[in-house]
Amino acid sequence: MPSIAGARSSPMSIVGGDVSSPQKRRLRSNSDLIDDSVSNTPSKTCSPLKSKSPRRFVNDSPNRSRANVETKVKNSPKKKLLDSFLDKPIWNPTDSEQLSAVKEALHVSTAPSMIVCREDEQKRIVEFCRQSLEQEKAGSLYICGCPGTGKSLSMENVKGCLAVWAKETGGQLPDNLAINCTSLSNTSEIFNKILEKGKPNKKVNGCSTPLRQLQQLYSQKQRSPDTKMIDQILYLDAFHLLSFKTRVVSRLVIADELDYLITKDRVVLHDLFMLTTLPFSKVILIGIANAIDLADRFLPKLQSLNCKPMVVSFRAYSMEQIIIILKQRLMALPYTVFQPQALELCARKVAAASGDMRKALGICRGAIEMLETELRESTCTSTLTSMVRVDHMAIALSRAYKSPIVDTIQSLPQHQQIVLCSAVKLFRRGKKDTTIGELNKFYIDICKSTLIPPVGIMELSCMCRVLGDQGILKLGQSRDDKLRRVTLQVDEADISFALQGIRFFRNCLQ
Ligand SMILES: Nc1ncnc2c1ncn2[C@@H]1O[C@H](COP(=O)(O)OP(=O)(O)OP(=O)(O)O)[C@@H](O)[C@H]1O
Ligand SMILES: [Mg+2]
Repeated sequence: MPSIAGARSSPMSIVGGDVSSPQKRRLRSNSDLIDDSVSNTPSKTCSPLKSKSPRRFVNDSPNRSRANVETKVKNSPKKKLLDSFLDKPIWNPTDSEQLSAVKEALHVSTAPSMIVCREDEQKRIVEFCRQSLEQEKAGSLYICGCPGTGKSLSMENVKGCLAVWAKETGGQLPDNLAINCTSLSNTSEIFNKILEKGKPNKKVNGCSTPLRQLQQLYSQKQRSPDTKMIDQILYLDAFHLLSFKTRVVSRLVIADELDYLITKDRVVLHDLFMLTTLPFSKVILIGIANAIDLADRFLPKLQSLNCKPMVVSFRAYSMEQIIIILKQRLMALPYTVFQPQALELCARKVAAASGDMRKALGICRGAIEMLETELRESTCTSTLTSMVRVDHMAIALSRAYKSPIVDTIQSLPQHQQIVLCSAVKLFRRGKKDTTIGELNKFYIDICKSTLIPPVGIMELSCMCRVLGDQGILKLGQSRDDKLRRVTLQVDEADISFALQGIRFFRNCLQ
């Protein structure tokens, strides 16, 4: 039985968990059934996610002395200049406090101070809830999108926005129930949870199933809540007490990871959504899942009843969005940790693969660890200007996305890697194919620039054949080896990516 979490320090704890594998999420989710009545207290802003600012760490670090200097020169004419300097204290990757501040800023369970790139989606969800509450109507909404696209995070913010709306307008605040479906011991347990929420201190009637009881409850006119819902009032403050005495309260059920309820016969999913169609139902159901076509494929009966849930889909993050989100999270830090090109590389690769923000954050943290390892192993004492560079990011990325082709390229002998590097340089000039002879010229140039003795053209031709056998190059036919046409069979970006980690190739390809 999943535990009911009490007051949590941050609503982000429901979002937490830095992994996307179902197994790990299952573990993470065991305490994700949350009685949210407590956290429903309206806050002042419409951006209720609060995070520990990494600045706190920074202020405790040796840079603190700068703050003292700042107060002394408050009225100095040089203040502006000094301010701009103070705004960017020097990033010192050997300072463990600074390091943990950066890692925290990039941790999935750290709530961003503001959720960027999801404004439209959140607006649509808030609007749906607001309308259902104002009209005192039941309804269902289905939120879908790939992993790490900000669905759970946005939903946390939506709850806060509703609380603000209720406070500002005197609107009815729903009775919230957030369920992470992975924490249910069996799929139909969800009805138990919904029923228990309505009768928190009572045992569920043993004669009839929880689903049946819910169906009965929502099929008949509910009596005044001041007698019926008295138990729930205990969870709320005086403001909400007033609302309770005059209305039958709506129930906002947020079922996250709804994919776990997809059974062969889909009966649980169907019954769940059907609760919102019963004549006296006040259930506002929000289901969150990865399956994009759940509403079409799994709920055809609802469609025939004209009760198909409204759908809000969260598209995978684009490269630009990932950069914006990363920068927004790093903005809390008063120093520059990443080279812009490194962030761009991460965003490009993640956007091309999945658009999963959880992955992007993990990779950035991995890149910081690469820098740490480099500094630990380095004999050079000057570390103050060491930022996370493209090569750190490339290694972190290659660890995160071990593609077979990248693996193959990384394990090739050095001269074959130089051949591929030459091919990339050549094809960057707009050519679609070349000849072994022309490739040889580029190969020799690279060898010369790095003082590596080149092999002869016969050997180069052999290497091309080997690369051809591995499916990396394609070779045309010709009696003269020099004239054999060469084309790349793998993505140029995969070669650059695979070779980025080696400084020599990085310089070549820049
Ligand atoms: N717009 C954003 N701004 C800042 N951080 C974000 C944003 N979107 C996602 N994240 C980060 O990525 C993490 C994963 O997001 P979230 O848990 O909301 O994904 P999800 O869509 O619910 O994924 P899943 O389908 O796997 O449950 C969040 O904890 C947050 O740290
Ligand atoms: Mg989620």
